[in-house]
Amino acid sequence: MISAQSSRPPSSARSARSSAGSRSSTARSRASTTSPLSFASRTLQKVGSSPPHRPRPCGRSGTVDSPHDPRPRAKDCLVTTTEALAAAARRLRAAGCVFAEEEAAVLSEAAEHDSGALAVLVERRAAGEPLEQVTGYADFCGVRVRLRPGVFVPRVRSGLLVRLGAEAAPPDGLVVDLCCGSGALGLAVRHRVPGIALHAADIDPVAVACARENLGENVYLGDLFEALPAALRGRVDVLLANVPYVATRHIDLLPAEAREHEPRTALDGGDDGLAVFRAVAAGAAEWLAPRGVLLSEITEAQAETAREIAAGNGLTATITTDDDLDSLAIIVRKPLQRP
Ligand SMILES: C[S@@+](CC[C@H](N)C(=O)[O-])C[C@H]1O[C@@H](n2cnc3c(N)ncnc32)[C@H](O)[C@@H]1O
Repeated sequence: MISAQSSRPPSSARSARSSAGSRSSTARSRASTTSPLSFASRTLQKVGSSPPHRPRPCGRSGTVDSPHDPRPRAKDCLVTTTEALAAAARRLRAAGCVFAEEEAAVLSEAAEHDSGALAVLVERRAAGEPLEQVTGYADFCGVRVRLRPGVFVPRVRSGLLVRLGAEAAPPDGLVVDLCCGSGALGLAVRHRVPGIALHAADIDPVAVACARENLGENVYLGDLFEALPAALRGRVDVLLANVPYVATRHIDLLPAEAREHEPRTALDGGDDGLAVFRAVAAGAAEWLAPRGVLLSEITEAQAETAREIAAGNGLTATITTDDDLDSLAIIVRKPLQRP
């Protein structure tokens, strides 16, 4: 059964979810009122490169004009699709999906309007798999990101890191997407600042394979900085690090979609949620360029400790928020050297 919260179409569900990642109940309730229409326009918009799922004409081989041709006629196919779509919506609604019609339409597009393929996708969704993993993509910050089962679904709130990253990146700067997951953040920053050199790394081989599909070259497998080429040391202008930051004791409070379909390594940030951030902050000074910046998403409750962690590593930190995205980021810099 899809829970009421997790059945909300993906973009809005992510920014609205109740977890250690949410900043405030006010913002949370505002985000949770996002309408299905806004979801649909976000999910179905055509952006950037060609979408991975392109509707094909009915009958697959084009127009059917011979009465003896066994292939389905366009009209028959349309009827089947309409019926299949209605059946898909009924099945999703029965599974507890609030935006059943909208999701059925998204799944139909992903199934290339093939009724059989649609039925398979609908069953995966009805079993609680995140919509983006079922369709194989997420629309995020103006780019379409390919996704795979088991890879963290980029959250709407991470748009704050993308904005900050794009603002901080010099036109030909060096950007590293550490803990890259699908590579969504790096991809979105590169969409905004096309001249950057982008490198990405993750500890999860499934995520790395997915990020390679999205980013192409320069995606590495390994533990934080250990994965990066030594040549990047001291040169990174923007270090995006959307690390796992949910405190271990809060993992059970996450929606089932996250708990059951995203890897624990993508979510669990240890006792206070800051274990991976600590490790990133400890290495940041060595990898950042003199005016480089480390950007991480955290919660309001973690802000003070995160600031202390940065200071403990000789770094300066400021906190910035985006209420519309229900998002909070820490911006970490090296202190400027006197000439
Ligand atoms: C919260 S997800 C963020 C993914 C992606 N940046 C995004 O925003 O969609 C955290 C990611 O960190 C990765 N990760 C966790 N620990 C890591 C480590 N020690 N080294 C590298 N990656 C790590 C996980 O595999 C996961 O893909």
